[in-house]
Amino acid sequence: MAQRASDAGQPSPYILETSGLMKEFRGFVAVDGVDLKVRRGSIHALIGPNGAGKTTCFNLLTKFLQPTRGSIRFNGRDITREAPQRIARLGLVRSFQISAVFPHLTVLENVRIALQRALGTTFHFWKSERSLAALDERALALLAEVGLAEHAGMVAVEMPYGRKRALEIATTLALDPELMLLDEPTQGMGHEDVDRVMQLIRKVAADRTVLMVEHNMKVVSGICDAITVLARGAVLAEGDYAAVSANEAVIEAYMGSSGAALAGAPA
Ligand SMILES: Nc1ncnc2c1ncn2[C@@H]1O[C@H](COP(=O)(O)OP(=O)(O)O)[C@@H](O)[C@H]1O
Ligand SMILES: [Mg+2]
Repeated sequence: MAQRASDAGQPSPYILETSGLMKEFRGFVAVDGVDLKVRRGSIHALIGPNGAGKTTCFNLLTKFLQPTRGSIRFNGRDITREAPQRIARLGLVRSFQISAVFPHLTVLENVRIALQRALGTTFHFWKSERSLAALDERALALLAEVGLAEHAGMVAVEMPYGRKRALEIATTLALDPELMLLDEPTQGMGHEDVDRVMQLIRKVAADRTVLMVEHNMKVVSGICDAITVLARGAVLAEGDYAAVSANEAVIEAYMGSSGAALAGAPA
């Protein structure tokens, strides 16, 4: 994919930087002057009580929503005014929701479609047996990467929840992201699936950057290098897990909402 290089020349340690990011919905400020810095190669968590503005932040980053104020730099490029369909091409990809997986197609077919999507209209897969085979090869490699190689022929709807999430990650990887956004990847999962998805995220993050919204503190403390805590749309604290979990304001924000445990209890 083209157009990945920074146009600023000097490489920044941060793949993503927002400055004064703000989103107002009819007078209600959902995201309030957020300066977010995501280090290249890291796994970065965005946490905070319900309603803190995490999903809105994600929607701003992928340009699903237009910011009211502030700017977003990705790979040294100002993407604040970029069209949403360009964002994925530039390498910033948000994981699809499970609903975007075609339930009655096989695992392999789902990844193949994602690859075709990534290649766009220039790739006329139906014209050549050879290009179809090449596509299958790439799809199988992606399935192997997420541990689904043996399930390639399975119909998506028949897979357990955790594996559906792995498939969703494979379809996201098909777009070749440099920065992958995951919104609550372990939501609704039991222990076993949580462990599996944690390992998977660690693995795909080996040569990518991951920014994730996550409520499960076991996941946050287990695999995230950096944490940004949002509360009422603003950054409340930043740092590694030890620093953030000991922060008085953070503890209070969590107590004040649902009393959700920040001390490592499963969410
Ligand atoms: N489209 C919208 N219109 C009005 N208010 C919204 C909209 N989207 C989100 N909000 C509000 O913005 C706040 C932050 O929401 P959200 O980003 O979904 O929080 P989180 O993901 O941290 O739980 C909430 O109070 C929510 O009700
Ligand atoms: Mg949310």
